[in-house]
Amino acid sequence: MSEAIKPLDEDLEKINIFDPELMACPHAFFKKLRDEAPVYQDPNTGIFQVSKHELICKVARDAKLFSNQFGTIQRSGGGDYPQEAADIMASDGYPPVDTMLTADPPRHTSYRSLVDKAFSPARVSDMGPEIEDKINFIIDQFYDQGKCDVSIDIAQQLPVRVIAEQLGVPLEDYDNFCGWSDAFVQQLSGTSSPEEHIAIAKQLVQFQQYFANKLKEKENNSTDDIISDLANLDFEDENGKNRKLETAEQLSILQQLLVAGNATTAHTITEAFYLLISNPDQMELVVNDHSLIPNMVEEALRLLTPTNNMWRIATEDTELGGVDIPKGSVILIRYGSGNRDEDLFENPDKFDVTRKNARRHIAFGQGIHVCLGMNLARKEMYTAFPIILDRLKNMRFSEGNNFVYSPNVLLRGLDNLYIEFDQV
Ligand code: HEM
Repeated sequence: MSEAIKPLDEDLEKINIFDPELMACPHAFFKKLRDEAPVYQDPNTGIFQVSKHELICKVARDAKLFSNQFGTIQRSGGGDYPQEAADIMASDGYPPVDTMLTADPPRHTSYRSLVDKAFSPARVSDMGPEIEDKINFIIDQFYDQGKCDVSIDIAQQLPVRVIAEQLGVPLEDYDNFCGWSDAFVQQLSGTSSPEEHIAIAKQLVQFQQYFANKLKEKENNSTDDIISDLANLDFEDENGKNRKLETAEQLSILQQLLVAGNATTAHTITEAFYLLISNPDQMELVVNDHSLIPNMVEEALRLLTPTNNMWRIATEDTELGGVDIPKGSVILIRYGSGNRDEDLFENPDKFDVTRKNARRHIAFGQGIHVCLGMNLARKEMYTAFPIILDRLKNMRFSEGNNFVYSPNVLLRGLDNLYIEFDQV
């Protein structure tokens, strides 16, 4: 089954790019952009949209011309940020610092090389048994009922449990973890009201205070986890000075690990269930041949693209795809559109677990900001799905699904997916 994507009749100029319905279901709009204007300046906001695979890669790989210093836009989700929220952060929290995602070289390089070590392929490749234990434990919690909400009961559980252990945080703080992660996702959404921004600021302060204490504890009591590394390792800063991270820098890095890792991995796991159950022929293929699971995961990443869009800012007057882009312009690179580019992917809306070039997707980005956690995310999903498919038999959708993706200018995914299954 291909996702049925109806062509969009409306003229591009009439489209509100922050319309919640459009953000929830952007594929017809993306196709129109690719067909009519691969580099397109939205007349209402002035924001440039880049929608073809090749052009997106060009932007993402050129960190000199296209800056990631979009921290301010990201915090407000592209809209207005209320003063009261800024005051809460200023009086009770730590100031925002641009570390990895929102920093350019040489700043970016310093932080990235420090944190890269924690997520190296070698470290991640040893995590198989630990991930197997976790997914079995997660399934045990609802197994006897023969049904679950995939998003809440499985998909959100796995990455949070894995990262909690990597960060050295006890699981009794799991509820707080999820709350903070949700608040950060909401902050990026572009749909938050002033009241929501204020509530998010309060959550952010709680997160900062919690982790500031943990970091302090680890200064004198180092263990083998990322918090201890952040608390104790020296790094070479952008001025070539060897020093320890300041608390605000440590917190900015931790926040990124929490947000960037949890919602994205969770959304991909949920999407894989959705795609498999919607496409029984593809389900049968992976159930009968587990060696197809990695490619199935790559197809889910391609079709969903949980980090659907990303910001960039032009550092010079430039030209892209024949369109002039002035210095200072705000750009949205549409990763989700690039992943359905018909020039690269045949029948791009189709879920095909045997697709030869599925891995050419750009769901993890490109260039120096390419996802720091991609080895970990892949390891989690490649390890979990064989167990999921062995234990949850004859999976089908149950009552209550609306299959609606929550609107968010950067992230995309289903927040609920109710299924039933037979026990082995
Ligand atoms: C399916 C799961 C994931 C997807 C699809 C994903 C996607 C992405 C994308 C597209 C970027 C690039 C952003 C840009 O172009 O500016 C990125 C960066 C990043 N990701 Fe992921 N991510 C995932 C999981 C994770 C995990 C598990 C972690 C860590 C625990 C993580 C941490 C980060 C960080 C820290 C960055 C910023 C890196 C930098 O700027 O150098 N991600 N991710």
